[in-house]
Amino acid sequence: MYEQVSHSLLNDILAKLDMEIIKQPKMRYFYTRLGANFYAIHSLFELLYGNRSDFSAQMQKLVETMARQYIDRSDELRATDLEREKEHSWFLSQKWVGMALYSDGFAEDLQGLKSKLHYLQELGINMVHVMPVLDCPPGKSDGGYAVRDFRRIDERIGSLDDIDALSESMHRRDMLLTLDVVLNHTSDEHEWAQRARNGEQMYQDYYYVFDNRDIPDMFEEAMPEIFPETSPGNFTWDETMGKWVMTSFNNYQWDLNYSNPSVLIEMLDIILYWANHGADILRLDAVAFLWKKIGSTCQNEREAHLILQLLKDCCQVTAPGVLFIAEAIVAPVEVTKYFGEDAINAKECEIAYNATYMALLWDAVATKKAELLYRGIKSLPAKLERATWLNYIRCHDDIGLGFDDSDINLAGYEPAAHRRFLIDYYTGNYTDSPARGRPFGQNEKTGDARISGTLASLVGLESAIESGDEHAIDIAINIILLLNSMILSFGGIPLLYYGDEIGTLNDYNYQDDDSKQQDSRWVHRPSIDWDKAELRNRPGSVEFRIFTALKKLIAVRKEISAFADFNGRELLDVSNPHLLAYAHSDPRNNSSRVLVVGNFDATPQHLDLDMLQRMGFFKLGCIKDLCTGESPPIFNDQLAIPAYGFYWLSE
Ligand code: GLC
Repeated sequence: MYEQVSHSLLNDILAKLDMEIIKQPKMRYFYTRLGANFYAIHSLFELLYGNRSDFSAQMQKLVETMARQYIDRSDELRATDLEREKEHSWFLSQKWVGMALYSDGFAEDLQGLKSKLHYLQELGINMVHVMPVLDCPPGKSDGGYAVRDFRRIDERIGSLDDIDALSESMHRRDMLLTLDVVLNHTSDEHEWAQRARNGEQMYQDYYYVFDNRDIPDMFEEAMPEIFPETSPGNFTWDETMGKWVMTSFNNYQWDLNYSNPSVLIEMLDIILYWANHGADILRLDAVAFLWKKIGSTCQNEREAHLILQLLKDCCQVTAPGVLFIAEAIVAPVEVTKYFGEDAINAKECEIAYNATYMALLWDAVATKKAELLYRGIKSLPAKLERATWLNYIRCHDDIGLGFDDSDINLAGYEPAAHRRFLIDYYTGNYTDSPARGRPFGQNEKTGDARISGTLASLVGLESAIESGDEHAIDIAINIILLLNSMILSFGGIPLLYYGDEIGTLNDYNYQDDDSKQQDSRWVHRPSIDWDKAELRNRPGSVEFRIFTALKKLIAVRKEISAFADFNGRELLDVSNPHLLAYAHSDPRNNSSRVLVVGNFDATPQHLDLDMLQRMGFFKLGCIKDLCTGESPPIFNDQLAIPAYGFYWLSE
């Protein structure tokens, strides 16, 4: 019955489409895909906006937006869509290895980045997240996440032509381009904000705008503060408008109001616009925040999920080859929901940041134990089949310690004291720590804090180089490689962060810049020193040691089909608190089985081979480490793993 109703609704909408759309040739796939997704799209749109008097007109506009962007989609991109529809699990392959980078920090601008693609290829990178490139007010940019114009590239970084040339060059090299879409907010200098400020009701309705503090105060009761030091509270008084506006992040980032369907349609249009400029993957920023409800933290609301499902279904019609990454840095039980619940195929975002794993890895380094890491992975809810993690060690943001208190308890620590220890360990307040991090987002009311710093500086390379301690340098390099081996082998897409491949240290220049000095995240957003990068060719140098080892690991990963993310990972309880071990099998190829083991301790550790055999692994004497191609050392039926060492073992 509903099918019929939905059919006739669809026919009504199609009949009312603009002539310009109707007379377009080559719309066959659009209509087929719209037919297949219409029921879902209409139901979701109705759930969100069904009570509005302009519902039908907005629904019409939604379909027109999809159609117009389909018309603008190039033949090449349409062909890619078809290929990916046929091979719809293509992104689960182990062959993808990513890197996130700021184009200006990496290579001055977009043209520079294009000319340096060979460097990324040399390392084995074939997915590049180009950090925000859009026009932002200088000095009030939040690192590119306070967008003034969603269709204009920051002049200092390049032009739209440069993006097109970059995506074209990347596609020729079989590389994937990832771009950001900042869904939750705009800069207060965005045209919509300016018009709202000038009194246009239509644009005030794009945001959460209030005449007085009554409602803001009610919201504040349950909303946490994201940037408590620089931007306390969640509302900002706008003098010109004479009103309060919701600003969950910085006070110059105005939250968009998705209870207004016009906002959703505008943002869908922007998503499709960047899909049409060749983005293979779109990183949807701050998705947990998309729906606001008084009395809640205004994160992870059900409607935020409905919005993402709707955006996904619409993208499925116009640009089905394009994937979404959920940037949802939320509790482990919440994060897997961003893949889409109760669905066999991911119905929201195909990829999500694995912030839990990231934070747990840092816990293991500080404690030299893998206990909390083990528990945290164990309690990570299972994910859907056609969905995968983005596994990372560092990114442009701070490290938040967002693991579960109950896991911390189970690992034998007191949660608040343990978090305090980690912050102290990484920010120089712990005597035995070589780390050189900076605190970020310290909240005096709650005692919370997060950590900034580059991978190399956090694992002690900076202090080791400064003191000329060769042994400490070796240790830092070993930890860098151990952590990388963990993200490269976990299952999912590893995402390296630019500069880490050559051991880039903290950059303290931000302290001299008025617009940055309050935000310690700039300490780990470096400009690459290309003379230093050249040292990757000089044997013995730190750069050579890290780059060469990573390059090897990446190449080996790409050959191990069990690392493709078909949910074949089994976490192993190896009864040694310093070791993390998991095994991967490839459901498509039974003979491909790999056991990964990493030692987080500063002394060598043993793994009982008898126990492994009882678990069904390995005949003694037949084990090979795939990273080196050699048999690992065995003594008294024990596998010996050096301090901060790791193996990827197979028979
Ligand atoms: C995301 C970005 C972060 C930014 C925030 C607000 O979390 O990764 O850098 O500050 O969104 O846009």
